[in-house]
Amino acid sequence: MNTFISNVGKEKVRIEHMVKNDTGIQMEHLFKSFFVESLDAIIFWNENKTVIDANDAACRLFECSLDILKRYPIDTFVYEKDEKYHSAKQELYKKGSIRDELLFQMYNGQMKYLEFSTKLYIVGDYHMTIFRNVTERYQMEKKLRESEQKFRRIFQGSLDGMLLWDENQRIIDVNPAGEKYLKATKYQVVGKTMRELLLNSHFSDEELNEVMKNVMMEGHATGTLTLKTRSGKTLHYEYSTKQNVVSHLSLTTFRDVTEKLEMEANLHKSDTLSVIGQLAAGVAHEIRNPMTALKGFIQLLEDSSEGKHPMYFEVISTELNRIDAIINEFLILAKPQAIKFVEHSITQIMSETVNLLSAQAVLYNVQFLLHYDDDLPTLICEPNQLKKVFINMIKNGIEVMPTGGFITITMKQTTDNRIHISIRDEGYGIPEEKLKKLGQPFYTTKERGTGLGLMVSYRIIEEHEGTIKVESEVGKGTVFHVYLPVEK
Ligand SMILES: Nc1ncnc2c1ncn2[C@@H]1O[C@H](COP(=O)(O)OP(=O)(O)O)[C@@H](O)[C@H]1O
Ligand SMILES: [Mg+2]
Repeated sequence: MNTFISNVGKEKVRIEHMVKNDTGIQMEHLFKSFFVESLDAIIFWNENKTVIDANDAACRLFECSLDILKRYPIDTFVYEKDEKYHSAKQELYKKGSIRDELLFQMYNGQMKYLEFSTKLYIVGDYHMTIFRNVTERYQMEKKLRESEQKFRRIFQGSLDGMLLWDENQRIIDVNPAGEKYLKATKYQVVGKTMRELLLNSHFSDEELNEVMKNVMMEGHATGTLTLKTRSGKTLHYEYSTKQNVVSHLSLTTFRDVTEKLEMEANLHKSDTLSVIGQLAAGVAHEIRNPMTALKGFIQLLEDSSEGKHPMYFEVISTELNRIDAIINEFLILAKPQAIKFVEHSITQIMSETVNLLSAQAVLYNVQFLLHYDDDLPTLICEPNQLKKVFINMIKNGIEVMPTGGFITITMKQTTDNRIHISIRDEGYGIPEEKLKKLGQPFYTTKERGTGLGLMVSYRIIEEHEGTIKVESEVGKGTVFHVYLPVEK
């Protein structure tokens, strides 16, 4: 091959004319213009690493003139002579050629990632290196890597559940929060289709198709979804789905809003309670006076009837007593004028309540099992109001066990400084759809019930800044959990 290296500086370039005919001259010409015109930087150097010649592209790349380039050994521009550099060098001398990428510092200080290929002794004693600037590609790859890492971090650390799925709706990945919400491991979820995952939900296939259609058409869909767990608990999720978030994968984000919805329902309940409370106070006072008159005159009538129609009088007086009971419960609903909160022992309140009801319990063949933690802290409370709550709950418990059974009462302090009181019966339980109705005014399933006991109880506990939770299983029994804050 012919050389097209010019004779420059002190360096004497040997030009070997290996081909001396016309084609040779043509070839030399061709190579020369290739060298000059090439967009890639081309540098020839010798065994002292001195630059012999470089094209314009090389000068542009290294940000200096040819003269300056020739002043320095070619590896001066390698930014870090690290392990990668040394192993590349070794490989080069072993194989005679190499193709690699390194970080270079240009003459003006600028850093560039250069891809290069070097061939030793390409022309006589000269070596050739061709450089290409890959900084942009390098940075883009780096950015991509970074954004992928960022996505990973968000995916792993998010409090929302996340599912990544492909165009066949097959799940590719689930994050830790997702595993928790779905109560399944990654291993159980990955590989399933979205449809298989939603199989035991209330979603019909048409509904799911509708959601998928939205995703396909608009690229996203949001909504709520109700799933039933194997244990029969109903869970509500909010979800948002976006298509093609990363390389043909779609992302579904979801969170469990069961508790939020329950809280909203409770809030709604307490709203109703306060309106009813105000109304009740007025009405109850109005009814009280005529009631007293009625009671008095019925008594007089009975006395003067000389024992006639005893059944009538009995019915009248039981019904009047019932009205009385309703009015009394109504009055508690109204905010008591001078409610007196005092420091009191919850153990004492409960013991007194249980004593009060023990006669009725014996009558119904019901036994109490009591588990109170020692050293329960005292509460700032209205003891009689709390007693009223416990009486309501225990009475309800007795009333749902017609053939008797156990009522278990436990009281413990929670780690978040509340007192947890639970009252458990072995009665017939409450079906899930009826649970919502508890505490609603006049909701009763008993022939002689008022449907006010629980409503009053909710009201009182609310005034104590506490909460009530009900757990029930049909045929097994019901537990009322009351949580009261120790400090208010
Ligand atoms: N422990 C319980 N087990 C089953 N059902 C209950 C229990 N406690 C309350 N309930 C249901 O809630 C309804 C309302 O209770 P409550 O407000 O005390 O009114 P009442 O006892 O007058 O019916 C009851 O009629 C019953 O259907
Ligand atoms: Mg009751």
